Amino acid sequence: MHRVNVGLAGFGTVGSGTYGVSTRNAELIAQRAGVELAVTRVVCRNVEAARSAVGPEVQISEDWHDIVNDPTIGIAVELMGGIEPARSYVMACIEAGKHVVTANKALLAAHGNEIFAAAQAKGVHVGFEASVAGGIPIIKVLRQGLVANRIEWLAGIINGTCNFILSKMRDEGVAFDETLALAQKLGYAEADPTFDIEGYDAAHKLTILASLAFGVPIDTSATYVEGITKLDSVDIVWAEELGYRLKLLGIARRTDAGIETRVHPTLVPSSALLANVEGVMNAVVVNGDALGTSLYYGRGAGSDPTASAVVADLTEVAQRMTCGCVDNPNFSNTQTARLPMAETVSQYYIRLVLDNADVIDAIKARFAAAGVNLQAVHQRPADDASVAVVVMTDTARECDVQAVLKAIADKAHVAAVLRREDFS
Ligand code: NDP
Ligand code: HSE
Repeated sequence: MHRVNVGLAGFGTVGSGTYGVSTRNAELIAQRAGVELAVTRVVCRNVEAARSAVGPEVQISEDWHDIVNDPTIGIAVELMGGIEPARSYVMACIEAGKHVVTANKALLAAHGNEIFAAAQAKGVHVGFEASVAGGIPIIKVLRQGLVANRIEWLAGIINGTCNFILSKMRDEGVAFDETLALAQKLGYAEADPTFDIEGYDAAHKLTILASLAFGVPIDTSATYVEGITKLDSVDIVWAEELGYRLKLLGIARRTDAGIETRVHPTLVPSSALLANVEGVMNAVVVNGDALGTSLYYGRGAGSDPTASAVVADLTEVAQRMTCGCVDNPNFSNTQTARLPMAETVSQYYIRLVLDNADVIDAIKARFAAAGVNLQAVHQRPADDASVAVVVMTDTARECDVQAVLKAIADKAHVAAVLRREDFS
């Protein structure tokens, strides 16, 4: 049987999982794929820890050039994370004629256009299934399963750490910091968890998905990003009482005026499928003109679930090596206009704190004057002498809502502005 040697750069949560899954299921994979995968080199900083986890046949060192310079290695895996030295390593591997597999969405969001173009020019393949939604094969879905469809929109829970935190806060009342620490311990969070909780990781993934769905070059700067750090647990409770769950969603949509990409905490109806995706689970809903709406669900982070996607890529690349065919994404759609956040439309949940209830009618009048219709206004006394009011708007433009909030600043403290969406 044809054998392909693999070099692993990075032996942390995903690297060790990749070694574990590929050796544990080696026979099964070889039987299914007709190719034998063998990890022959590992590069990491803590060489001792790696030594105790791999067989004696695996060479271990600290320098990624060892993989680049090893002519017996056909596939180079990048699981170090971050931009450098990951970028230099990937580009050097491509230049050396090696196929690459990576789970690094931060790298692809920043340098994906350059990496895919270099790989295509060199005739090597870059696999990146694990870069979005952990073990869910969503890249294959967009690139192959839904290839016949004109994608209209997609929306998803694509950061396991944030979903884990929001679920724990809501179900068990656990504090934010404590839950984040647990997500780090379980290997879900990024090396710098700011990427998770400030929404950047979800934005990187959404940008990759949008590029695949709409064929446009990767451009993370066009994505609006709001994380979960400013969320108040009061709004999680209000949302529940009003029949909603708060989720960090990534949303990409094709509109006549351009493509919109945004990541923000979102109120989703409690009965919707996305509302019931809990803990580290991820889910992506995709709408295409032929299939309609379809849902993809599974573990979005962690060692073995992510390794499942990395090893799937390794197997695909190994099979491609036997036929000599590569297939890197081609972002050649020239209709790349982006819809500014101010022009996006959504329904809104707005929590106001008022000194007294007398100004409510004046506030409603401001919304009406801006053409923002209200579905409901909920009012209750706050802890102190003030009044808490939650305004639920009809579908409105972001810029119109922001203009009203500015205009009522003398009458109300705007405590929260959250968007409401229903992708069921
Ligand atoms: P870890 O921090 O657990 O592992 C990183 C590994 O890379 C460690 O073995 C580290 O060595 C090694 N490393 C880092 N820098 C260097 C360097 N300069 N030279 C040599 N080795 C280096 O990260 P994860 O496994 O969690 O993540 C890896 C990648 O996978 C990231 O891009 C991440 O975004 C992505 N990813 C992670 C998921 C997850 O659930 N964790 C899911 C999907 C994608 P040492 O430990 O010795 O310092
Ligand atoms: N930190 C990421 C998450 C890992 O929590 O979703 C998976 O990409």
